[in-house]
Amino acid sequence: MSKLLVTGGAGFIGANFVRHWRAHHADDTLVVLDALTYAGNRANLDGVADVDFVHGDIRDHDLVVSLLAGRGIDTLVHFAAESHVDRSIHGPDAFIDTNVIGTHSLLKAAKKVWLDSGTGQPHRFHHVSTDEVYGSLGPHDPAFTEMTPYQPNSPYSASKAASDHLVRAYTHTYGLQTTTSNCSNNYGPHQFPEKLIPLFLINALHGRALPIYGDGMQVRDWLYVDDHCRGIELTIEKGRVGETYNIGGGAELPNMTVIDTICQSVDAAFSRDPQLAARFPDAPAARGAATASLKTYVTDRPGHDRRYAIDETKARAELGYQAAHGFETRFAETLQWYLDNEPWWRAVISGEYRNWVDTNYGTR
Ligand code: NAD
Ligand code: TYD
Repeated sequence: MSKLLVTGGAGFIGANFVRHWRAHHADDTLVVLDALTYAGNRANLDGVADVDFVHGDIRDHDLVVSLLAGRGIDTLVHFAAESHVDRSIHGPDAFIDTNVIGTHSLLKAAKKVWLDSGTGQPHRFHHVSTDEVYGSLGPHDPAFTEMTPYQPNSPYSASKAASDHLVRAYTHTYGLQTTTSNCSNNYGPHQFPEKLIPLFLINALHGRALPIYGDGMQVRDWLYVDDHCRGIELTIEKGRVGETYNIGGGAELPNMTVIDTICQSVDAAFSRDPQLAARFPDAPAARGAATASLKTYVTDRPGHDRRYAIDETKARAELGYQAAHGFETRFAETLQWYLDNEPWWRAVISGEYRNWVDTNYGTR
């Protein structure tokens, strides 16, 4: 039986991970530490049995020490972060505070409890990172491997790169038992509607513009969130201490393909279900028009990375990891989740979120 502390467990991937872990490890202890920033949502954990939720900050070193020691934690899974590239361009400070200082606070606490106290307790610090630390690829460059040199281009990816280096240093210098996973773009239920897929879905339902950065031909590898959670689980169970593993979705697609899939899928959903027109009267699909009519080219994101691609040979060979389903199937399920869970996203698209979207996406 393991005792897990999950940081950022009320965010998108963290909450999906908590659900995944509870479903597959009924007897394990699950403690979630989350500061409930704009991206954190206690409701993301609704219905998950036996989760001990602690509202607190990863930078609160004493709190983290007391949780690790007091609850007998043996596995720390670290998701908590500022995670949106656009926000890092507008305000990088929070990214340094949370992603760099926050990760270091956790590492110091883990060292203190697991190493300095001399219990000799087996432990694991799993750090969740991103493929964005490797920088941008040209169209014919080979995909990122774990040996690809770091070349982060945004304040977000630079802060994640710094945190990855700190994790590595705590293993090499102090012997902390760490693993790191670098994954590609996640999508799925409970994703905060600032990232491409949920933002465009909700804008489409409201008849708002779909803001396409630049030419829309940037390429990402799309990873269904539950595949990612399984990849993390496999890394914790089978990964070698001190190693990093790339986790991808096997779906390298230009943004425009994803956007066209969103538009066509929304149109098809309205054709299948006449009630959607009554629920979302402002959607073009409600009056038989194409959702694609909302596509709007806007000024490109500064420093926009052109292409990410994941070589997951190592995760496949060492962990037995492979994404389970293709993009089309998982995207259809994701769209259905957003249609079925309108109260969830209605609750999050208010206040600060509305200001952010109006400021950054509304006027361009
Ligand atoms: P998210 O923004 O949805 O959630 C982040 C969570 O961290 C929120 O619940 C927030 O309240 C919490 N948090 C933020 N600052 C905190 C602090 N100081 N103390 C405690 N909690 C704090 O992020 P996500 O998309 O779920 O990403 C999770 C992790 O995965 C991040 O480390 C991110 O860098 C990484 N990642 C995400 C993606 C993606 O596509 N979303 C891709 C690659 C890597
Ligand atoms: P995003 O979901 O922000 O993830 P990341 O920047 O981590 O890859 O963006 C995915 C891609 O979609 C990225 O190339 C930027 C682009 N994009 C748009 O074209 N318009 C938008 O409004 C957003 C949010 C993203």
